[in-house]
Amino acid sequence: MEDPWMDSGGGRNGKGGMSGLAKMEEKATWILAIESSCDETAAAVVKDGREVLSNVIYSQIELHTIYGGVVPEIASRKHIEKINQVVQAALDQAGKKLEHMTAIAVTYGPGLVGPLLIGVSFAKALSFAGGIPLVGVHHIEGHINANYIEHKELEPPFACLVASGGHSHLVMVKDYGEYEVIGRTRDDAAGEAFDKVARAIGLGYPGGPKIDKVSKQGNPDAIHFPRAKVVESAYDFSFSGLKSAVLNYLNSCQMKGEEVNQADVAASFQKAVVDVLVEHSMAAVREYGFRKFAIAGGVASNSSLREAFVEACRKEGAAFYSPSPIFCTDNAAMIGTAGYYEFKKGVRHGYDLNAVPNLRLGE
Ligand code: KG4
Ligand code: ZN
Repeated sequence: MEDPWMDSGGGRNGKGGMSGLAKMEEKATWILAIESSCDETAAAVVKDGREVLSNVIYSQIELHTIYGGVVPEIASRKHIEKINQVVQAALDQAGKKLEHMTAIAVTYGPGLVGPLLIGVSFAKALSFAGGIPLVGVHHIEGHINANYIEHKELEPPFACLVASGGHSHLVMVKDYGEYEVIGRTRDDAAGEAFDKVARAIGLGYPGGPKIDKVSKQGNPDAIHFPRAKVVESAYDFSFSGLKSAVLNYLNSCQMKGEEVNQADVAASFQKAVVDVLVEHSMAAVREYGFRKFAIAGGVASNSSLREAFVEACRKEGAAFYSPSPIFCTDNAAMIGTAGYYEFKKGVRHGYDLNAVPNLRLGE
């Protein structure tokens, strides 16, 4: 690829010769990252993996709220409308142009096929037009890598709980770009349970942030909801029984003519989810002897979950890491970070890159 700085008139500082700084800058790796796997159209510019120069997120949440969840067709149409502006804004805010980019990273799975295809096609077009290498990124890998952005000292190996709307994975991060899933949900993802319970208690979509907020007014010990264990694996999760228990509780209140205390139900449900996520994660920390533990994904922005993990990791003597909430929910900066490490490992995708809705981690 052409030296991106050479067209600015003999060095970036504009003085003709290359200063030491300019030489260092020349070696920097710039990633333009694109994320469109669900209902956020996002783009970011990331330097050398951990420095986020821009992180633009267009959230479609309001569009989908009236339907009580993400409508894939509507999401796709909105992505295609917004993606040019979002990518342009990411470059502008970083003070960069496409030709300055070393590589283009894009989420190619898992996620909704239509939304994924918009990001992948757009990234391929940019890569083709600019002659810039293309790197496809796994969405969950992105969530895990969000931890590197603000914790410059964090390096593998470590364990990470990824809890989002579509996934609840306990992952062993063996090295950059090397993952082993040691636990997963057998049914609903944690975020999915939050969304379904929120709908049932009349909070609407998106459920997670609403339950988080309402729970602060409720008593988490008011109702005892079950904490499911999966017999064959101490690290797997199951949330569908908990969701049913909440629905049964609501039905029985209705039949008895008892008033439902929304905040108590929210807080008690939230505590059940948090207890299970923490307990199973800490079992893995003890069994495998992890010294570092991280959380990631939309549910990782839950305030009660974060507090519980801080305390649990302190007790286990493990260092705890979590991204700021803005890097927990879907964003492109995390894809830029993951894309950087994949790029450094030599990963390049061709123009035949396709969206893979059910892509598994480590494939
Ligand atoms: O990671 P994410 O933005 O998208 C997926 O990859 O799925 O996660 C979205 C999920 C939704 O289910 C949402 O309700 C949940 O994360 N979530 C939360 C919170 N904020 C978002 N769950 C609990 N507490 C929160 N504060
Ligand atoms: Zn996500």
